Amino acid sequence: MKTKILKLLKDSSGYVSGQDICNCLGVSRTAVWKVMNQLKEEGYEIEAVPNRGYRIISSPDIVTADEIKSLLNTRRIAGDIRYYEETSSTNTVAKQLAETSDADGLLVIAEQQTAGKGRRGKGWVSPKGSGIWMSLVLKPAINPISASMLTLVAALAAARAIRQTTGLESFIKWPNDLVLNGKKICGILTEMSSEPDYINHVVIGMGINANIESFPEEIQDTATSLYLESGQKVKRSQLTAAVMSCFEEYYERFLEQQSLEPFLNEYNQWLINCGREVRIIEAGCEYTGTAEGINKEGHLVILLSDGTKKEVISGEVSVRGLYGYV
Ligand code: BTN
Repeated sequence: MKTKILKLLKDSSGYVSGQDICNCLGVSRTAVWKVMNQLKEEGYEIEAVPNRGYRIISSPDIVTADEIKSLLNTRRIAGDIRYYEETSSTNTVAKQLAETSDADGLLVIAEQQTAGKGRRGKGWVSPKGSGIWMSLVLKPAINPISASMLTLVAALAAARAIRQTTGLESFIKWPNDLVLNGKKICGILTEMSSEPDYINHVVIGMGINANIESFPEEIQDTATSLYLESGQKVKRSQLTAAVMSCFEEYYERFLEQQSLEPFLNEYNQWLINCGREVRIIEAGCEYTGTAEGINKEGHLVILLSDGTKKEVISGEVSVRGLYGYV
């Protein structure tokens, strides 16, 4: 009921009468009054005017399930949201939930992670109240070979949602990172459980450095936040809801074709590596070339100095700019 009341208040530009809320949700005046008090305790500013009703003045910067749901218009993504004030890693929780339930589209989100995971066994700095630490459980009926493309779909969704919500133009550093002014603002960690020809589940973990004010010294040169780059705090629930909507749109088109063909132009425009010299670090060998963009399988196409082309597969290599992180 709290989610529905919140949505009614947020969808209205003016006052919503207590009676209308009661009629719409089939609940008593006292029940509505109690929810209004709970919302106020959570930090929502709600004005109550006799004979006019309730009006929402401001919302706190929180990422609870109620707050995100009140902003969502998706059909299959984030229908179920599990919110934790603190957890070890949303990817770990999401994998556990994926194993025990039919959780397609389930979103796990936390205010703080105590053991946030990055790629290649690294950690992920996930302080309280300033980032978006979330994991989406998917059970797509696609070949496991195609699952790595979901990371690229998620990166596209995040880049578009950041533009929509903040006006900031980030870029994709193939395949897992989003960068802004040469520093990382978002990382994606995709984990999968599968049989040779069947996906049990895919967990897409995404960390967005939204309102972080400072980073540990070791990563200060390579990491930044939307706040540090723009001077503006972002409403994290709004950005989360936007990522979910954008993801749903791309995901449905991706499932129809099981290919990145429909997004090639768009993706390559967001791709920071495009047209740049990159160094590819593969098990046992390193080489440089010019990144030309991705192909429909999501591989990065590299033009080598002898004029031949090589397709690089994500997960098997590391891609670096010649002069630093990007
Ligand atoms: C990377 O760039 O190395 C990937 C970072 C992924 C971080 C996110 S935060 C939410 C989710 N839970 C985790 O433990 N990791 C991912």
